[in-house]
Amino acid sequence: MEANAADWNTLERLRTEFLNAKGATGVYWKSSSDLAQYHRFFAARIGWKWDDAIEQAKQAGWQLRSARLFDWGCGSGIATLRLLDAVDSEALEEVFLWDHSTLACEFARNAIAARYPNLKVSIANPSSIASLEDTLFLASHVLNELTLNDRDSLAGFVRSASQIFWVEPGSSQSSRLLTEQRDRLLGEFSPVAPCVGSQSCPMHREENARHWCHFFAKPPVEAFTDGDWARFGQIMEIDLRSLPYSFLVLDAKRHEPARSLDGKSRVLGRPRQYKGFSRIFSCDHNGLNDYELQKRDDKTLWKIIKKGKSGTLYEWTETVSGRIRSGKPAEQEES
Ligand SMILES: C[S@@+](CC[C@H](N)C(=O)[O-])C[C@H]1O[C@@H](n2cnc3c(N)ncnc32)[C@H](O)[C@@H]1O
Repeated sequence: MEANAADWNTLERLRTEFLNAKGATGVYWKSSSDLAQYHRFFAARIGWKWDDAIEQAKQAGWQLRSARLFDWGCGSGIATLRLLDAVDSEALEEVFLWDHSTLACEFARNAIAARYPNLKVSIANPSSIASLEDTLFLASHVLNELTLNDRDSLAGFVRSASQIFWVEPGSSQSSRLLTEQRDRLLGEFSPVAPCVGSQSCPMHREENARHWCHFFAKPPVEAFTDGDWARFGQIMEIDLRSLPYSFLVLDAKRHEPARSLDGKSRVLGRPRQYKGFSRIFSCDHNGLNDYELQKRDDKTLWKIIKKGKSGTLYEWTETVSGRIRSGKPAEQEES
């Protein structure tokens, strides 16, 4: 399953495919060795994003409430693997995988079976599935490979799901494609994370066109200590310190709400640091706000935000004329 030696030519070819993807990419996996190479590097980075997104979702009260899981565009299976690692996998009856590449479906099935030998894993063409009832739908890094028609029919397909967990790259284009999917699904689903409200995404307002909903995951130490990772970063021209991503977690409206985020705010992107103050782009119940946080107004909060270790969910307890006067990370309320 693991690629032995890094094959830089294959990795560069795949990188070019991903960078050029503008819908209808066609099948680019040529062998299971392509998938093994992908799994070792690109998918590992995607897995770190999944870890961060799952942590953020759990902070917002997300939990597994489905008996089945469906991974659409599964590639090497990293989304399912990370999700299974983070939940009680024994609560799941079956995992379904779909990718228009048979090689990918088989690679993912083997990877999941190797780690979870007692779990039933099947390959399932969506056209053979009547409903995603009692199913957690997963998708990861697929939207920029799809046409508008594909994205429409995918939104139609997931409508019957019980839960949705979707992770995409943190580029403005991918983020916008994801928030568009979100708004298509608001009739049947309630947002769990990252959204603090269930109104149409404020990013779609004209005045917010230059912003996008994205976050940063933290790479593990191996990304900086392993020689192959250093070479990967150099050859692919990827800054390994930066792991931007977008994500979307929805529960069907028939479920009890995960946790009320009334009065909570979501910090988007990276707070910008200046001498004595920070600027914080925040998604609040009244829309998007670009706040100033002066160190002298709330030194504890200012320090927490500067360190960036307390997640992205906050409560601004006092804001005056675009300035946060006081606030705290949302999880402090839980303890
Ligand atoms: C960048 S890879 C991401 C793979 C995996 N989800 C991950 O996060 O690592 C995109 C995957 O979507 C699949 N894909 C692209 N278009 C598709 C389509 N129309 N139907 C099914 N799978 C598709 C590709 O074959 C590929 O495996």
